Amino acid sequence: MPQRPLSVRSRRMVTAVKAANGTGLPIDLRGKKAFIAGVADDMGFGWAIAKCLAEAGAEISLGVWVPALNIFETSLRRGKFDENRMLSNGQLMEFAHVYPMDAVFDTLEDVPKDVLENKRYAGNEGWTVSEVAEKAAKDSGKVDIVVHSLANGPEVQKPLLETSRRGYLAAMSASSYSFVSMMQRFGPFMNEGGAAITLTYVAADRVIPGYGGGMSSAKAALESDTKVLAYEAGRKYGVRVNTISAGPLGSRAAKAIGFIDDMIRYSYENSPVQKELHAAEIGAVAAFLTSPLASAVTGQTIYVDNGLSIMGLAGDSKTLDRHA
Ligand SMILES: NC(=O)c1ccc[n+]([C@@H]2O[C@H](COP(=O)([O-])OP(=O)(O)OC[C@H]3O[C@@H](n4cnc5c(N)ncnc54)[C@H](O)[C@@H]3O)[C@@H](O)[C@H]2O)c1
Repeated sequence: MPQRPLSVRSRRMVTAVKAANGTGLPIDLRGKKAFIAGVADDMGFGWAIAKCLAEAGAEISLGVWVPALNIFETSLRRGKFDENRMLSNGQLMEFAHVYPMDAVFDTLEDVPKDVLENKRYAGNEGWTVSEVAEKAAKDSGKVDIVVHSLANGPEVQKPLLETSRRGYLAAMSASSYSFVSMMQRFGPFMNEGGAAITLTYVAADRVIPGYGGGMSSAKAALESDTKVLAYEAGRKYGVRVNTISAGPLGSRAAKAIGFIDDMIRYSYENSPVQKELHAAEIGAVAAFLTSPLASAVTGQTIYVDNGLSIMGLAGDSKTLDRHA
């Protein structure tokens, strides 16, 4: 499969966001504050979204999974992400605040003793969803943009027929309820006209063998919750809620599933737009969806997948060979 260097293409995408500022139809997020949960390196969708929102002028704060915080902060400090932090104005993307966060716990009372005493959590405090929301509001005032770019399914490699109740519920807790919790806790601290987005996957409503452990169920719940929360948070806080259904990306989380390289190849061979998908393309759509340009878009699942989801036939199927 032909490969283009990611950094060049990423730069072109974010430049597209930047170029809009000041000319024509702008994606202008200057003066907006964004909180992005689910960034632990510079390879995933959360980072790419942070970068596009920063290009458009937003102030970025992060919620980083507690066990990943130390390595993230060390890498950041040592300049490991600097190449990918570079904005088109020549400055490095800065983070106003980086908070430890574990999105499977809503309040301190919910945290079991073994987690509190776990050495990966020791030394950090205030990382449950409600505590992070309160800290963010105290530090930054109201936020305009909330991004949920996280998921976890401990049994993702098991077919649903072999998934335990515990594994299924853990996938739902980390990957779906975590967003409900974030909207409950961040909603009161969001400015009217604000927007929230999550990341979903086509396995929510099409069967993708290999995406197991209840993760397909969790994404289906996330898409349904996007609609209900769009209604409830729209009425209560005046904010919009959308989800981006992204095509395959070789992020850290996706590599843990085990078949991401095959999915990327499959997508390349069978999508209407035949090219590799880049995280910055999801970032650009996130910037649009969270901007006033999308002021009438809410409750939607937006596919950003080179069009793969519209296909009903795999063009590279061996079954079709006899017609070649
Ligand atoms: N990579 C893909 O092919 C793909 C496709 C469609 C959708 N998505 C979705 O995109 C989102 C981001 O994933 P990604 O692929 O960019 O991988 P990623 O590894 O960059 O992001 C996942 C993040 O979730 C964090 N996380 C896990 N459990 C957490 C918890 N309990 N509390 C707080 N943070 C937690 C991890 O630390 C990590 O930073 C996920 O919702 C994923 O399902 C990914």
